Amino acid sequence: MHRQYIDIENPDTLSLCNDTIAAADAGEITIAVDFAGVNRADILQRLGLYPVPDDASPILGLEVAGKVAAIGPNVEGFEIGDSVAALVQGGGYATSVNARADHTLKLPANINSRSGAALPEALLTVWHNVFTLGRLKPDETLLVHGGGSGIGTMAIQMAKAWGARVVATAGGHEKCARVRSLGADLVLDYRSDTLREDFKNLALTGAIDVTLDMAGGDFTPLNFELAAPDGRIVCIGVMRGSKAEIELVPILMKRLTLTGSTLRGLGMGGRAKGFAALQETMMPLVAAGQIEPHIDTVFRLEEATAAQNRMQSGEHFGKILLDCRQT
Ligand SMILES: NC(=O)c1ccc[n+]([C@@H]2O[C@H](COP(=O)([O-])OP(=O)(O)OC[C@H]3O[C@@H](n4cnc5c(N)ncnc54)[C@H](OP(=O)(O)O)[C@@H]3O)[C@@H](O)[C@H]2O)c1
Repeated sequence: MHRQYIDIENPDTLSLCNDTIAAADAGEITIAVDFAGVNRADILQRLGLYPVPDDASPILGLEVAGKVAAIGPNVEGFEIGDSVAALVQGGGYATSVNARADHTLKLPANINSRSGAALPEALLTVWHNVFTLGRLKPDETLLVHGGGSGIGTMAIQMAKAWGARVVATAGGHEKCARVRSLGADLVLDYRSDTLREDFKNLALTGAIDVTLDMAGGDFTPLNFELAAPDGRIVCIGVMRGSKAEIELVPILMKRLTLTGSTLRGLGMGGRAKGFAALQETMMPLVAAGQIEPHIDTVFRLEEATAAQNRMQSGEHFGKILLDCRQT
């Protein structure tokens, strides 16, 4: 099958190339890609800061949505033409890609492939970090740093649909208002000089059960302060820096847990397990319209550089996509 894909010529240049995609292996399906999601990790990979694992494609792109175009051996439950979204081991910035069937979600009728492409990475990241590692319960309070990110917009909706109270941070008044409109109960501007006091004035100090933290750096001691007894702080990114100076006593006094993960680190089996759990827990809520991907901008596949530049600018809200449909 002929494929167009994006190649990293050098850290400044992404170019459109052509080749032929290999037939789907056992356990895989070939997806004719309609849309691909853009993720922070793609930018790091382009800049040479995110080494590609040996078993992954060097082509950019970790999630796609489209139609099943071919089915490999030992795959059950999929038919040619099914509308699907999948997490892929690279190769998503392309017109077709092979995906593991157990890393693939069948899209419900209310979700088209444009919305579907925003699902796999965010659903699985939030599921694993907030619900599995963070063990969020329906009557607890979740703090989401980066509430306006692709991940954050989904985390807020997933936690609200779960019955939790959600507090979020975002940069600037406009983004805070948009995060509030997603259903967050309280939203604080992380650029405020009085952020610590703002949390305190809202009686949130010592009240956060689970924190989904993509900020790191100087937010780490703040997260400890905000945590409730037995609080869980889950680190998924380091937008404010990878180093932090922390006071250990709150860990002892409040029995805190600081943990984190990467999706790639979960391994094939861990990701498959996560997808099986998502099918049961979150996909019914997606099908019911309670969780809805928020799309910022769609760029054409050949505009991948512009798409990544928009993400780097920080002006976006929600998910950035590439339109990979062949014209
Ligand atoms: N560990 C994992 O498995 C995993 C998987 C997927 C993503 N991630 C990480 O999750 C994060 C979000 O990913 P994404 O694809 O959704 O990216 P994104 O849409 O670009 O989101 C980045 C977020 O970081 C916030 N941010 C940026 N600088 C900040 C700062 N100095 N202080 C506080 N917040 C800041 C932004 O807030 P404003 O826009 O409001 O300024 C924005 O909400 C990234 O760090 C990514 O690497 C981790």
